Amino acid sequence: MEQRVDQTHHHSEFTLRMITLLLGGLLAAVYFLLRVTILKLPRCKSDAKLHGKTVVITGASSGIGKETAMDLARRGARVILACRDRERAEAAIQEIIQETGNQQVLFMQLDLASLLSVRTFAENLLQSESRLDLLINNAGVLSDGQTDDGFGMMFGVNHLGHFLLTVLLLDRLKTSRPSRVVTVASNSYRWSKLDFSILLDHRDSAVGSNYSQIYRKYCNSKLCNILFTCELSRRLQGTNVTCYSLHPGQVTAANQLGVLLYLYSVLLQMF
Ligand SMILES: NC(=O)c1ccc[n+]([C@@H]2O[C@H](COP(=O)([O-])OP(=O)(O)OC[C@H]3O[C@@H](n4cnc5c(N)ncnc54)[C@H](OP(=O)(O)O)[C@@H]3O)[C@@H](O)[C@H]2O)c1
Repeated sequence: MEQRVDQTHHHSEFTLRMITLLLGGLLAAVYFLLRVTILKLPRCKSDAKLHGKTVVITGASSGIGKETAMDLARRGARVILACRDRERAEAAIQEIIQETGNQQVLFMQLDLASLLSVRTFAENLLQSESRLDLLINNAGVLSDGQTDDGFGMMFGVNHLGHFLLTVLLLDRLKTSRPSRVVTVASNSYRWSKLDFSILLDHRDSAVGSNYSQIYRKYCNSKLCNILFTCELSRRLQGTNVTCYSLHPGQVTAANQLGVLLYLYSVLLQMF
């Protein structure tokens, strides 16, 4: 009888220890996630106003682009959402206008996976807008496939489309100086491995479609964003058009790209 009581006591003590251990582990994991995400990030304290400035931002129908558009609209800028899907963009615009009260928020169709669409967008913009103060190359994909022109999807959308867009809008940026080109890159460029001969032979930055090759293509496209910014900045020295590329931090977005990037980067930071 005494032995059974003893056994039950040991059993509940063991269960209690396991629960404490699990709770401790869970708390440590939550703390770790907060540390590599929210707690670590600096916050923008600028109260600059942007009345009279015109901004183009690509991929502003969701995620980081939408939040950026919201902030710029709040500061009084005329904000053009360069997006591929009218319905999603219009929904974002409604939300931005409602939140900020700024009516100068517009949609213009742009599919970065088609160089023809990029040219058409640039033509339309140059016709309708007399100035361009800020171009934000934000749109990005993390999915395989090909663009309309037969380039790898991530190389084509994340880098090539933005490259052409920037070049086509450069004169308008120059006449609106001081102006800026901001390209949203990623710290995942650290895992890139660019082989220019693969680019020439395959119109893509890596060969293969397994997960690691797909992620490699994404990282390569982000390195391209950075190299492009460095070279553009060098060529524009003295023009008062300045260029920046950035890592936005890990941001969970509503769709696959944000979630995947988030998981990837949290995992990678563990090593
Ligand atoms: N989230 C992160 O943790 C993270 C980390 C580092 C870097 N970044 C970079 O931050 C940028 C924004 O990422 P996000 O997380 O906000 O992603 P997101 O929520 O998936 O937004 C991506 C945007 O790009 C647009 N887009 C996709 N393909 C396009 C195309 N062919 N033409 C025009 N627009 C297109 C999407 O439009 P639809 O609505 O039509 O799909 C969407 O508005 C990307 O450049 C990404 O590489 C993100």
